[in-house]
Amino acid sequence: MKINSAEFVMSNTEVAKCPKADRPEYAFIGRSNVGKSSLINMLTNNSKLAKTSGKPGKTQLINHFSINNDWYLVDLPGYGYAKVSKKLREKFEAFISNYLLERTNLMNVFVLIDSRHKPQQIDLEFMQWLGENGIPFSLVFTKVDKLKSQERKLFLKKYENEMLKIWAEMPPAFVTSATSGEGKDELLGYIEDINPMFQA
Ligand code: GTP
Ligand code: MG
Repeated sequence: MKINSAEFVMSNTEVAKCPKADRPEYAFIGRSNVGKSSLINMLTNNSKLAKTSGKPGKTQLINHFSINNDWYLVDLPGYGYAKVSKKLREKFEAFISNYLLERTNLMNVFVLIDSRHKPQQIDLEFMQWLGENGIPFSLVFTKVDKLKSQERKLFLKKYENEMLKIWAEMPPAFVTSATSGEGKDELLGYIEDINPMFQA
């Protein structure tokens, strides 16, 4: 799919205030600093669209981006960020879970996983929660440019083995790098295939 336009629409914390749910939408979520905002910039060829940072906890709101005036990409705050207070973390979790449960046009959630780390409990539990609530998701492995060639061959299989202890089958998975652009065509092609399934 060709990206002709990518525009910031709005930021907020309330699903009721999000843009009208009249087109397909895809949300990016995962642990803080995993590369959600960077991936959105890579997909849209715009390094300044979503704000990124070397420090975790950068994205703190639900951010809507309109792509080709036809569908939405949503950048969400990361989960599991230890440095914010418990109260703030609970507030984040409440508005993110409300958004995920109530957003009627949400076609798919991309759960981002840092390809350098072995499966983390917090990610596995989050996927379990998505499953229990019937929210479709796929996996996106990030920062694959940081892997040595040997690690690169093994990490996906290792992750899959862990997933198959919980799930009957592996969800769709994408291997990406925001620095090299790897995985871009696959991800955009996947979204292009799902878009027509949207019913207003
Ligand atoms: P929060 O908004 O804080 O939850 O973080 P985020 O998941 O949006 O991460 P962000 O995109 O801000 O990236 C975090 C850091 O990882 C930044 O320093 C990025 O430059 C770096 N980064 C993100 N993706 C990649 C990648 O594919 N490769 C490499 N080498 N670095 C990456
Ligand atoms: Mg971010």
